[in-house]
Amino acid sequence: MYIYDQYDQTIVDERVIQFREQTQRYLAGELADAEFLPLRLQNGLYIQRFAPMLRVAIPYGMVSSNQLRKLAEIARKYDKGYVHFSTRQNVQYNWPQLEQVPDILAELATVQMHAIQTSGNCIRNTTTDQFAGVAADEIVDPRPYCEIIRQWSTFHPEFAFLPRKFKIAVNAAKKDRAATLVHDIGLYLVKNKTGEIGFKVIVGGGLGRTPLIGTVIREFLPEKHLLSYLDAVLRVYNRYGRRDNKYKARIKILVKALGTELFTQKVEVEWEQIKDGATTLTQEEINRVTDHFSVPAYEALPATSDQLAQQLADDPNFNHWYQQNVNAHKVSGYSIVTFSLKPTGVAPGDVTDKQLEAAADLADQYSFGEARVSHQQNLVLADVKQDDLYPLWQAAIQHGFATPNIGLLTDIICCPGGDFCALANAKSIPIAEAIQNRFDDLDYLHDIGELDLNISGCMNACGHHHVGHIGILGVDKKGEEFYQVQVGGNAGSDASLGKILGPSFAKEDVPEVISKLLTVYVSQRTPEERFIDTYRRIGIKPFKEQVYAKAH
Ligand code: HEM
Ligand code: SF4
Repeated sequence: MYIYDQYDQTIVDERVIQFREQTQRYLAGELADAEFLPLRLQNGLYIQRFAPMLRVAIPYGMVSSNQLRKLAEIARKYDKGYVHFSTRQNVQYNWPQLEQVPDILAELATVQMHAIQTSGNCIRNTTTDQFAGVAADEIVDPRPYCEIIRQWSTFHPEFAFLPRKFKIAVNAAKKDRAATLVHDIGLYLVKNKTGEIGFKVIVGGGLGRTPLIGTVIREFLPEKHLLSYLDAVLRVYNRYGRRDNKYKARIKILVKALGTELFTQKVEVEWEQIKDGATTLTQEEINRVTDHFSVPAYEALPATSDQLAQQLADDPNFNHWYQQNVNAHKVSGYSIVTFSLKPTGVAPGDVTDKQLEAAADLADQYSFGEARVSHQQNLVLADVKQDDLYPLWQAAIQHGFATPNIGLLTDIICCPGGDFCALANAKSIPIAEAIQNRFDDLDYLHDIGELDLNISGCMNACGHHHVGHIGILGVDKKGEEFYQVQVGGNAGSDASLGKILGPSFAKEDVPEVISKLLTVYVSQRTPEERFIDTYRRIGIKPFKEQVYAKAH
């Protein structure tokens, strides 16, 4: 975990005092709605369909057991007893009272948490791989770089009012688990031929109305230049990004309009001015930030556990869960466990206060008091001893965390949709539930294998439907809720955007449509192919024909 110093704590405490005063003035009628708007957005507060919505940052997804307990307490005291984990390593409260938000922020500050820059047209919470620092396939731990970006971007005066919100993701593993290519800036940590660490810089990805995959503007940026280069990119965006049209304001539109070459040229010219200036990272600075991350006291353990092997052989249900929800750890004798927040019938990413407290206890008992949040809206215990997997699994079952569906069809990414969001064209949570109900046979799910199914309630694409192997988008047809289905999206390092299958469907037809897509896959796949691979090989046509075939 990153541990705050006095400077971090003071910033957060002072912000609470400031926002309390702002809220009081607003409630007393001394601030107009339009005046309060930027102030509340700077503190993660939206006004939504039924109540305000408060978004709390979880920097690079790391959360301590104490923080989990505080989130639970807040859910109980100020909200309806649950929290929602979002697709950007944030937590959302859907029912706070405006007058209580300053109290909530004050409580968060006691555990080194806040809602600063979780909304508004600024640099948002920087996200990363939920397995950062423990992944077996990683070049270097990306979290210190995320933290360096956090410190640089928090309250950056020049970038407080950008044309639109700005999202940065960092990935350091072979497998991209952070949807890096669909961010405003994506950074891949890489090593060059001489072993020097640096970044591949990708700009202009994003979802929403105009979905685009980012383009590489620099193959290798030495790590010391990280901040000056980000400054240069942001400056070009701040200066040339469109402010006249909200829908054309993201950096992706600028990159597209200028073309990668001209955009890159502008960045390089800007960068030349500031390249070796004050923001150049020294090794001392990188070490300073790295030292703020406590390293768990790992024990020296053998690489494999006989006890675990026996348990896996004896208990097929445990084996199922192990295959699906447990990943390799870089430290010998340890594993990474993902708690599924997607049991059938629960809105994806929703967790009750009691569950959060249980997760906190399990993190204390089995994972050095820490957990992580994934962008697929699940919770991860990253440092579990192999010998502890069996008891942890049994406890996880008790608390509803052990659905063995990570990466499978029912591990659905889903936005809050029409149940909470004022912008929705259609509900999304009930669609997720209908699909989970229809496909609740675990053997079948395992047979289908890796499949990302993502749902958004409107084209803002908070549920990342464009990058789901199957994506579902809520649309409005003359006041009625319909669903457009897309296939072929992917969020990994070979990211692609889904293609629309054809005319949209009524709510009750969606599970059957999914079933037909799966039928095509199962009949056409080669043994090693995932759904997305088969789609890429055979194209959209067979899927289309199956789904729209006339009944006879
Ligand atoms: C209740 C209201 C809303 C909820 C609950 C919501 C929820 C979310 C969530 C959970 C995410 C993941 C990102 C994050 O945590 O920042 C997200 C992303 C996104 N949101 Fe929203 N959102 C809401 C309103 C909006 C609005 C007002 C817009 C734009 C007009 C919008 C556009 C987007 C887009 C475009 C993305 C992701 C795509 C990208 O990264 O480019 N959302 N939203
Ligand atoms: S995708 Fe649309 S409906 Fe869903 S949360 Fe985002 S803005 Fe709301």
